[in-house]
Amino acid sequence: MGGTIRVPMTTSLPKAAPERAPDDPAAPGATERASAATESLIRARGLTKRFGDFTAVDAIDFDVAPGESFGFLGPNGAGKTSTMRMIGCVSPITAGELSVLGLDPARDGPRIKARLGVVPQQDTLDMELTVRENLIIYGRYFDLSRKEAGRRADELLEFVQLTDRSKAQVESLSGGMKRRLTIARSLVNEPDLLLLDEPTTGLDPQARHLLWDRLYRLKQRGVTLVLTTHYMDEAEQLCDRLVIMDKAGIAAEGSPKELIEQYSTREVLELRFPVGVLETLETELDGLADRIERLPDRVLLYADDGEAVAAVAHARGLRPETVLVRRSSLEDVFLRLTGRTLIE
Ligand SMILES: Nc1ncnc2c1ncn2[C@@H]1O[C@H](COP(=O)(O)OP(=O)(O)OP(=O)(O)O)[C@@H](O)[C@H]1O
Ligand SMILES: [Mg+2]
Repeated sequence: MGGTIRVPMTTSLPKAAPERAPDDPAAPGATERASAATESLIRARGLTKRFGDFTAVDAIDFDVAPGESFGFLGPNGAGKTSTMRMIGCVSPITAGELSVLGLDPARDGPRIKARLGVVPQQDTLDMELTVRENLIIYGRYFDLSRKEAGRRADELLEFVQLTDRSKAQVESLSGGMKRRLTIARSLVNEPDLLLLDEPTTGLDPQARHLLWDRLYRLKQRGVTLVLTTHYMDEAEQLCDRLVIMDKAGIAAEGSPKELIEQYSTREVLELRFPVGVLETLETELDGLADRIERLPDRVLLYADDGEAVAAVAHARGLRPETVLVRRSSLEDVFLRLTGRTLIE
């Protein structure tokens, strides 16, 4: 398996560049960005994707550092796949700047692809072939000898726990097994950078946890992970840092912990009321918490001490059907930023 990170071939700019002339094209964006620019495995500035008149990705900026696990969290249609496809050199950028592994996708697509592993949103396995043959054929695209491709295939099947299915037709695999095979396939060329577009959508909890474990191991071996998800728990589990994408733009950026600290309170009190009661509540909720969100089926009260708020609510005569105190999550961050819930 790969795991060694090659030194990214990004620019050789000095970390801080106080002496840089103001008209230097690398200067805009300020000195604090200079260090990110020198170390980024992926660097995007004003990255834009349009389909005709429609803007799917609207001038976004982000950096991914070597060895980190970076996520795009956002709802359907936010622009996650469009962004991933530009990074994966299968969709040309419309405007802005993008460098991947220090190279330009428009010029150096093949060189970049040789060092990328890609798990597309939809599996693109060859259904007619066996599990093992899928890996070997893919290895042959990367000019591996049949022997070497076979060796890697066996190692990867072990890694994703599909050894006992190696002779099975792909068609016969469950969804979770296909996803694991797609991940194995993405690793055939021992990539430095792994792009995973919704790696666990549609999987049962057990299959998801197995995949999370495997991705975590890859990260420990030094592989840089970039993933998209609309599962906040997945983002919290896997991402060192993430951006919240909404409507083609980036609404916020940070580690899961930072985002929660910045945009939410420590705890959330969730009150569910019998049908029709929530609409009748007016002033009863006023001032109970730092922030109050009314959802169709429940009300969320944001406060550092949820139990204390529950006690005051009770003292005011509120009689919810259920009362739940929980920690804030990225879902709360998303709600705060967009006024909508991530998963309906
Ligand atoms: N080839 C295309 N032609 C026209 N519009 C497109 C094309 N690909 C994507 N879009 C549009 O761009 C927007 C963003 O799509 P994208 O697939 O990037 O979203 P996403 O965040 O990956 O969503 P999901 O969570 O559903 O996968 C959507 O409105 C989509 O309809
Ligand atoms: Mg998508």
